[in-house]
Amino acid sequence: MTQKYATSDIATLFPNLMDIKDAALRDKVAVVWNEALTTGCGGKGWTFDEIRAIPFTLLAGKIDLRFVEHLNSCCKQCIAITKVLGEVFGSRVPVNLDYLIAGSLLADVGKMLEFDKSATGGVIKGHYGDMLRHPFSGVALCYKHGIPPEVMHIVATHSHEGDKVERTIESWIFHHADFIDFDIAKLLGKKSQ
Ligand SMILES: [Fe+2]
Repeated sequence: MTQKYATSDIATLFPNLMDIKDAALRDKVAVVWNEALTTGCGGKGWTFDEIRAIPFTLLAGKIDLRFVEHLNSCCKQCIAITKVLGEVFGSRVPVNLDYLIAGSLLADVGKMLEFDKSATGGVIKGHYGDMLRHPFSGVALCYKHGIPPEVMHIVATHSHEGDKVERTIESWIFHHADFIDFDIAKLLGKKSQ
């Protein structure tokens, strides 16, 4: 397929994409996002404005946190955690930051397929999402575009699907960053009801 969005376009949504040092990996992450944005939403695709407006989670109540913000928050948390671990433990806790950034930016890419729009324009879980949660569709998209297994591991295991899997260090870091945001969102959602 032709690429509608270049790496620099995807980086306007997720600026930390440019922190991936391996240019080939950086471009592959953008290609995966390009496909998810152009083929998601039940085949209708998503505009940048539409995905910027998607709420962080459909599972919490009325909260003013957005999906794109959540991805950026988790990615920045992963970078900060890696810095702290490096400062304190040095090479005894090895973290591949390129894999971690790529995994954090791809963990929820499958949500572009999981979500659809309702007749009134709201974001809902579509039939695709009922059949395949985003860790599965995310890995499928990643595999298609040659994302390394270390990164697909983060996508596959980041949520509860990974609870029975021996997570890598990078996957543990992302998993906890993800749930910092998610648990806070749930609490704010509860308070807003
Ligand atoms: Fe997720």
